[in-house]
Amino acid sequence: MGFPWQTAAAAAVGVGIGICLEKLRRVQTVRSSSDVVKSGVDVFVKKDQLEEAVASCLKAVGTPPDKAALVAKVLVAADCRGIPSHGVNRAEMYCGELKAGLIDPTANPKISADSPSAANVDGCNGLGAVVAEFGMKLCIQKAKSTGVGFVVCHNSNHFGIAGYWSELALKENLIGFAFTNTSPFMVPTRACQRAGGTNPIACYCPGENGDSFQLDMATTTVPVGKIEVCHRKGQQIPHGWGVDNTGVRSTTSPEKVLVGGGLTPLGGLEETAGYKGYGLNMMVEILCAVLSGCHKVGPDVPPWRVDRGTPVDYGHCFICIDPTKLLPTGDFQKALSGYLSTMRQLPPGDATQSVLVPGDPERAEEGDAAKHGVRLNLQISLGLRALAQSFNCSQMLPQEIQGLPERATAPKHPHTV
Ligand SMILES: NC(=O)c1ccc[n+]([C@@H]2O[C@H](COP(=O)([O-])OP(=O)(O)OC[C@H]3O[C@@H](n4cnc5c(N)ncnc54)[C@H](O)[C@@H]3O)[C@@H](O)[C@H]2O)c1
Repeated sequence: MGFPWQTAAAAAVGVGIGICLEKLRRVQTVRSSSDVVKSGVDVFVKKDQLEEAVASCLKAVGTPPDKAALVAKVLVAADCRGIPSHGVNRAEMYCGELKAGLIDPTANPKISADSPSAANVDGCNGLGAVVAEFGMKLCIQKAKSTGVGFVVCHNSNHFGIAGYWSELALKENLIGFAFTNTSPFMVPTRACQRAGGTNPIACYCPGENGDSFQLDMATTTVPVGKIEVCHRKGQQIPHGWGVDNTGVRSTTSPEKVLVGGGLTPLGGLEETAGYKGYGLNMMVEILCAVLSGCHKVGPDVPPWRVDRGTPVDYGHCFICIDPTKLLPTGDFQKALSGYLSTMRQLPPGDATQSVLVPGDPERAEEGDAAKHGVRLNLQISLGLRALAQSFNCSQMLPQEIQGLPERATAPKHPHTV
């Protein structure tokens, strides 16, 4: 499946190749929080060039090449999947943390407790992607030998999109779950201050012929990255995403959410059952932080700011299940594909919008990225250029970004300054 493009002038801004003043048609009938975030002017760049540019920035702040390449791959994968909130938008924050000495870019994780199907991993305050790759690969090994793998990690950092890690399991024909706790941004039901992270849940399940179920979501109404992208673009957010510094008053100002405000749990207010999102959010905190032995939990996790002066000590949890240990080989994939087809073929409520299953929107974005290049919002591209310029590595940027007209960049995120 794919989404139709609407063409408009591209040459007006002068640099030709990259900038498109195109908007996806779906943006005109905004339906999801992702559509809100993805509106605006875009630049299209080659995936490998973007990865190299991001890796160069990370190397400039002491990250060894192999680890920089992995982190860059995870970030760019998010942009390819149409999740700009967790793509190269994050490079500035990661580099800020590395520059401030808050993360050890050279650290390798180590196993602190082990059994045939379960393990606990000490991330040694290394890069989140490095810890997550180690944790998920270990989990996959255990699932292949015992039927189920359960691995928690502590003393880690931001690991990017949770789905990236579930996908490693999917590639091995396993069901893969990935969870992480994060710094406080969620205001719990009946509270008036932040006391939990955006704590995502990812669950990927393999179907037949490359089809799959790919649920990957924050347990807040939106992740903080979606607020940041709107902030970069100077765009208001819809009511219901977040509250101001009173902790209870809904706001459309991304700045007010980022500075002293917070995010609603998935489901929103109490009358729209936000307490269920709050409960899921706590479940993720328990699996990731309490069970792995993180020193700080929930409201006590340090803020995700470069001036926090201490490691964040995030925890992750990975679960893998091998369906062949429960059903004859291939039966799960076949039954899942049948179920996914049934759901997609449901009569749509709006004849112009077919019913999707989790993962369909991101798969369509990946298809578009493979054809047209990775779509980056202009403000995010300018942010990346400013970052690369600050490390004297702007020559590594794709031409489409290097050649953007000189103009003011979007404001830095309040928690990265
Ligand atoms: N590392 C972190 O600290 C952290 C924290 C929070 C979120 N995140 C990441 O942020 C990303 C975005 O999270 P989000 O909550 O904004 O996700 P989202 O709301 O954009 O999508 C959530 C899920 O809904 C599915 N979906 C979307 N439209 C659908 C439709 N019409 N029908 C059926 N399914 C549909 C998507 O495929 C996805 O699986 C995720 O990748 C998540 O892992 C990371």
